[in-house]
Amino acid sequence: MKKVYSIPELVHLLNCEGEEEKNLYNEAKEVKNKTIGNFVYLRGLIEISNICTKDCLYCGIRKSNTDTGRYSLTDEEILDAATFAHTHRFGSIVLQGGERSDSAFTNRVTRLLRQIKQQSNGELGITLSLGEQSLETYKQWREAGAHRYLLRIESSNPELYARIHPHDTHHSHDTRLKCLEYLRESGYQVGTGVMIGLPFQTTEDLAKDLLFLQNMDIDMVGMGPYLEHHATPLYQYRHLLLSQQQRLRLSLHMVALLRLMMPDINIAATTALQAIEPEGREKALEIGANVVMPNITPTTNRTLYKLYENKPGVHEGAKESMLQLEKSILRCGCQVAYGEWGDSQHFAHRTKE
Ligand code: 5AD
Repeated sequence: MKKVYSIPELVHLLNCEGEEEKNLYNEAKEVKNKTIGNFVYLRGLIEISNICTKDCLYCGIRKSNTDTGRYSLTDEEILDAATFAHTHRFGSIVLQGGERSDSAFTNRVTRLLRQIKQQSNGELGITLSLGEQSLETYKQWREAGAHRYLLRIESSNPELYARIHPHDTHHSHDTRLKCLEYLRESGYQVGTGVMIGLPFQTTEDLAKDLLFLQNMDIDMVGMGPYLEHHATPLYQYRHLLLSQQQRLRLSLHMVALLRLMMPDINIAATTALQAIEPEGREKALEIGANVVMPNITPTTNRTLYKLYENKPGVHEGAKESMLQLEKSILRCGCQVAYGEWGDSQHFAHRTKE
């Protein structure tokens, strides 16, 4: 049964410690295991390009950051990475990249989706994380074979959103919300999420983020700690931040609470958790998350896709590190579901109604 909390209750639980924290984690673990089991689904993450038309104030690959080299993977590199995921029985991939909506880009993605579907005999599930697009583009990509889409709301509070984005029509909270509607209309399993521990963010903001995810009846969530990047405007507010350990802990509380509020959704153990602590993702899997996205971007380009600093997993996705990951997943009481799409059960339930 899904839990319903008030804002003050959520604020209290987000800050809880000791025995209460232990109980929260135990309860979330139990609800996950009872509802969707202890399976962890893999999504091979392919960072197709760091060229971005957006200028988000927190992000290391924002358009105005001239400190970074820019790359775009070739078709062959993308198709090879997809083959790697297929042969290693990942079940699914995620194509993620900087935001572009010109037709050369959108049509290329459509072509790649068809090719990936074809070369994997339709066996590989495809999630996209390519930002805000038109309804037509979302539909085109859905028809070409993508069936899940991630588009974080970043913060459900429009005022906080405005403090971490430029003030122009290209960075609008309303558009982001509209896009989430378009995605649902296009038939995707829809994922969203927020950053945790942003400057100016209060615990009440985070409580409201959790309620937002529940009210939006979202199918999948990816949320993780905000991590400062020196070449971004938000870096000047780093003195306002909680310690990275506190941001990690707050993120784990967010995951556990969301699992109690939405027992049958997919929740990702995000890479930003791992940036703070090597086993950060495993901690999230233990207390409520059920998806990991090992990075399978060709290693030559991986260092350039830096949304934040200290990004881990430079060699991840390689065979040896997958074995390590599997071992650590087993250690935290979960098991890897190889070769499965691992769709959101919530999506199945809500579309059956
Ligand atoms: N710290 C943490 N997460 C970040 N993202 C972008 N920049 C940062 C950062 N500095 C997240 C955003 C975006 C996703 C792709 O990466 O939430 O939606």
